[in-house]
Amino acid sequence: MENVAAPQPKDNMGQPVPRVDGILKVTGGARYPADIKIENPAYGYLVTSSIARGQISNIDTSDALELPGIIDVITYHDFSGQIEKPLMMGGEGGAGYAGSTSRPLHSSKISYDGQIIALVLAETFEAAREAAHIVQVTYKAETPSATLGSDGLKIQAATVVKKSHEDPKVGDAEKAFLEAEFKIDKTYTTPVEHHNPIELFSTSCVWNGAELTVYEPSQTSHGLKFGLAQQLGIDPGNIRVISQYIGGAFGSKGAITERTAIVALAAKKTNRPVKLVISRAQGFSASSYRAETHHRVALSATKDGKLTSLIHEGLELTSRDDAYFVGGTDATSRMYACPNILTKVTIVRADRKTPGFMRAPAEVPYMYALESAMDEMAEKIGMDPVEFRRNNDTMKEPIKGLEYTSRSLMKCYDEAAASFGWDKRNKEPGKMRRGEWLVGHGCATSCYPTLMAPASVRVTFKIDGTALVETAAQDVGTGTYTILAQLAAEQLGIAINKVTVLLGDTKLPPSPVSGGSNVTASVCTALLEACNNLKSKLGNNSGGNLEAQLQKANLKEMDGFAETVAPGAPKAGIDMLHKGVSAIDGGAKLKDRIQFSFGAQFIEVEVHSLTNEIRVPRMVGAFAAGRIMNPRTSRSQLLGGMIGGLGSALLEITEVEKSSARYVNKNLADYEIPVNSDVQQLEIILVSETDTKINPLGIKGLGELGIVGTAAAVSNAVYNATGKRVRSLPIRIDDLIA
Ligand code: MOS
Repeated sequence: MENVAAPQPKDNMGQPVPRVDGILKVTGGARYPADIKIENPAYGYLVTSSIARGQISNIDTSDALELPGIIDVITYHDFSGQIEKPLMMGGEGGAGYAGSTSRPLHSSKISYDGQIIALVLAETFEAAREAAHIVQVTYKAETPSATLGSDGLKIQAATVVKKSHEDPKVGDAEKAFLEAEFKIDKTYTTPVEHHNPIELFSTSCVWNGAELTVYEPSQTSHGLKFGLAQQLGIDPGNIRVISQYIGGAFGSKGAITERTAIVALAAKKTNRPVKLVISRAQGFSASSYRAETHHRVALSATKDGKLTSLIHEGLELTSRDDAYFVGGTDATSRMYACPNILTKVTIVRADRKTPGFMRAPAEVPYMYALESAMDEMAEKIGMDPVEFRRNNDTMKEPIKGLEYTSRSLMKCYDEAAASFGWDKRNKEPGKMRRGEWLVGHGCATSCYPTLMAPASVRVTFKIDGTALVETAAQDVGTGTYTILAQLAAEQLGIAINKVTVLLGDTKLPPSPVSGGSNVTASVCTALLEACNNLKSKLGNNSGGNLEAQLQKANLKEMDGFAETVAPGAPKAGIDMLHKGVSAIDGGAKLKDRIQFSFGAQFIEVEVHSLTNEIRVPRMVGAFAAGRIMNPRTSRSQLLGGMIGGLGSALLEITEVEKSSARYVNKNLADYEIPVNSDVQQLEIILVSETDTKINPLGIKGLGELGIVGTAAAVSNAVYNATGKRVRSLPIRIDDLIA
């Protein structure tokens, strides 16, 4: 029987090897950071603020301290002044490690709902939890600004808060739009979303003299090490971070969060190892989230379907503390040929936690807006939406005229459309029916910038015919262990089961953050060079039997080491790598080329004619991302992405209570995500593509590609089914009752 989970490789694809860590994971053998046994731990539980803005006037810990088994209750009285202000990851100048500069336990100030205000330590988790609930906190509360549209917000242009930000533009879009005959001008909105990886956030800290070991699921083990050293003012050489298995991340474990320094200091203060596992509800403020966004998209086109103007204005919420924004106009301004483009990103500061990376942070909301507008524009001129995109497809991005290194967008459209049966669609809304259900078909473009960062890898070949690959990259569940084993096996001419891959430990050579879908391209580039170095040290570049060569040289083993940067990238990135900073670059940011992966998604919805219930019986996505290392893990990433996209289209929203700036649905019962019955037929097509300009192996990466565009495709399908344009996510029954 055909195994759909293991697609047969096409041209420029590796084998669909099963995950090398798969058995360990499903049998419980994989030790996630909180599973690692530490001696004599004090168990932590957080107390978090129940107001979003103001001051703590008093914390009474006396009742809590009297409970049996309580070791300590730590508040800002203990740690005030002991934690340096963190440096923001990707901040001005690029350096930094943290998701926010906020410092809970630094003072009595409260800047957002759910801010850490105390850490209870006890002999058991249960005792710590019980005590946390009887810590008495009184506040001097102030009225918070909760969300876009609230009173008291501070509004700033992205160009003002970040000097390096540019709002892409070309031509005179306002004039072209004004003069155009066929045009649309619409507003689209996306809600607050939380990552909710199934593995809870956790941190365990163990001191041994001046040496500190941190067990924490992290997308950046070296970033965590250096970021924590900066916050504690200690030598990074004394910190070891272990993060070998990660149970989902989606961006939420991408930057150092507030808790780590607190746990480290608590372990020092109490002279005990401290283990903190954060509850699901507290997890909604322990890390980051995707902030709500508003978009104005105005398009104009000629009758025969050429875009004449494109205006995209994005409005994003952030905190008072940090001017974080995603700025997805980098992608939306470059998707299609258009002579007149105007974009602008504006941020809105509210009394909320600093948002952060969440799967395709920039492209998900911004492409939802653009791809919804593209559907509306196509309809306006009476053109099929696939043909409208074909008319505006381009191998040169329109802002600076740079060439795409490769772009298989229309190939993706054609393969997905054929499999989906797009030619059978009735473009008139409300005309396709299945019993009581209205049927609708919609499509949208997926894209993701091809990013790379410096990386280093050591590979060792041993006389017994085995090999060891060492790099401190992370496998967030995406398949990093597997594809590195595959590449080493291929390069050294041995079976994959002879290769051991070690990841997620700062004792290993540094690798970049598992973010921006960069790790496969970055780390495989370094591994390839490390294998070549190993072989040339053995005097053999052309393959051959490495065991025989070791024997001849009377050696037990031979290693090869490499540290690499992306083609054309400055070598200084390697110095940053050794300071735990990932100099990620690529996409639309390069001077001589533009590099993106692409895809096309087709979705069928059913909307019940009486109840307006929305179901999604079919989804087809076709994706091209250069060399595919492993069709099985790639399909899995894309499939997960599309399911996440389906969730963002119809289910996902963190509700913000407007008077208090607090989240309402902080649990997995009320924070809805797709379950099996929400996902029916889902087909992933891997499209062959060869790119010789991005890196020696031609890898683009696709971790985040699959979630981009899905929400627009669903929304466009809902319109085709019902004739109703819903321009706000998630689309719910209420939106269709009118
Ligand atoms: Mo991913 S949102 O780049 O960690």
